[in-house]
Amino acid sequence: MVVKERKSLVSFLQCSGCDKTYSVHELQTFADCDQCGTRPLIARYEFHDGYSKEEINLQERSMWRYQGMLPVLEEENIVSLGEGWTPMLLSTRLAAKYDMDKLLIKDESANPTGSFKARGLSMAVSKAKELGVETCIVPTAGNAGGALSAYCAKAGMKAIVVMPSHTPEAFKKECRYFGAELIEVEGLISDCAKKVAEIKLKTPCFDISTMKEPYRLEGKKTMGYEIAEQLNWNLPDVILYPTGGGTGLIGMWKAFHEMKELGWITGSFPRMIAVQSANCNPIVQILEGKLDTAKNYKGSATFANGLAVPTPFAEKMILNVLHESGGTAVSISDGEIKSAMKEIASLEGLLICPEGAALLPAMRTLLDRGEIARSETVLMLNTGSAYKYL
Ligand SMILES: Cc1ncc(COP(=O)(O)O)c(C=O)c1O
Repeated sequence: MVVKERKSLVSFLQCSGCDKTYSVHELQTFADCDQCGTRPLIARYEFHDGYSKEEINLQERSMWRYQGMLPVLEEENIVSLGEGWTPMLLSTRLAAKYDMDKLLIKDESANPTGSFKARGLSMAVSKAKELGVETCIVPTAGNAGGALSAYCAKAGMKAIVVMPSHTPEAFKKECRYFGAELIEVEGLISDCAKKVAEIKLKTPCFDISTMKEPYRLEGKKTMGYEIAEQLNWNLPDVILYPTGGGTGLIGMWKAFHEMKELGWITGSFPRMIAVQSANCNPIVQILEGKLDTAKNYKGSATFANGLAVPTPFAEKMILNVLHESGGTAVSISDGEIKSAMKEIASLEGLLICPEGAALLPAMRTLLDRGEIARSETVLMLNTGSAYKYL
């Protein structure tokens, strides 16, 4: 049960490119701004009257403990399956192997439906419920579809999930168990997005696409709040994050800024490292100067399905986080991912998803290049469990 401690301090939505604002009391997707073009909308909060760490609801062992900084206005609209407040694990055997002082894994596989997507979809479905939506639709690489289906089932809403046909069966089956309508498409998530656009013309439904819907980001940002709280209001030096659409990366960065303004944390922020698949690495290619933008980039499928996002809608925001944090982006092959899954499983007892496993070879590369020091505190954000991929 979610125990309400603090009313939401959400105030308005803002275009991520300019100051134009939008109401939180109406259904919104993204900004279609004269000045900025199509851009994600960002939730802003009014917390200048104060919101102290002591007001965090410690009894609430889910992401809803930070309710004041979340956008749902009425408690009755919260659709929760107990997402968030996931374990922060000290990876001593991996740290010893790589001669590192401190290596942490924030393990999102403990979430409902087995991935961090639960956070974003719990938030988006709660907000959609609050604003009267009956049917939600999503293009997905797999995990978001399962999570949307589960939260819609819990909310008594209909879910339409559009997924690449090559996605492992378990991802499809869970959607069907949750009562969702599943549509399979040849290609990647970008092709699923085109199918979603067609369906929306004929069927009344609300598009929950990542970063085109403003509140999935608010769910994902709670990873940033938890990292700080679990480290006694300190942040690691480096965070590695498997980046597809980039919602978690942008969300954690937003959380760090909010916590600084709230006075919950002080000091510098971590360097954020976006880890991508060698089969689909638009952000790496932009940083290497091989692409100006991901707009026309065509990637190919990878074992790490969640990383097969050739044209991330929030490209500019991802690049901004990497730039502001002094981070970088690294790409990893499917072969390296598979051996990393075995290495992490045998040394740490965690069977983590391919997306999360990609972080280990990425960290090794940066240690070898001297871009991460062995004395630094490094956090690998494991986004999910491997069980659906086996
Ligand atoms: C397990 C997993 N990790 C990482 C990602 C990429 O997430 P983001 O869109 O936040 O970059 C996904 C997206 O589908 C995923 O399922």
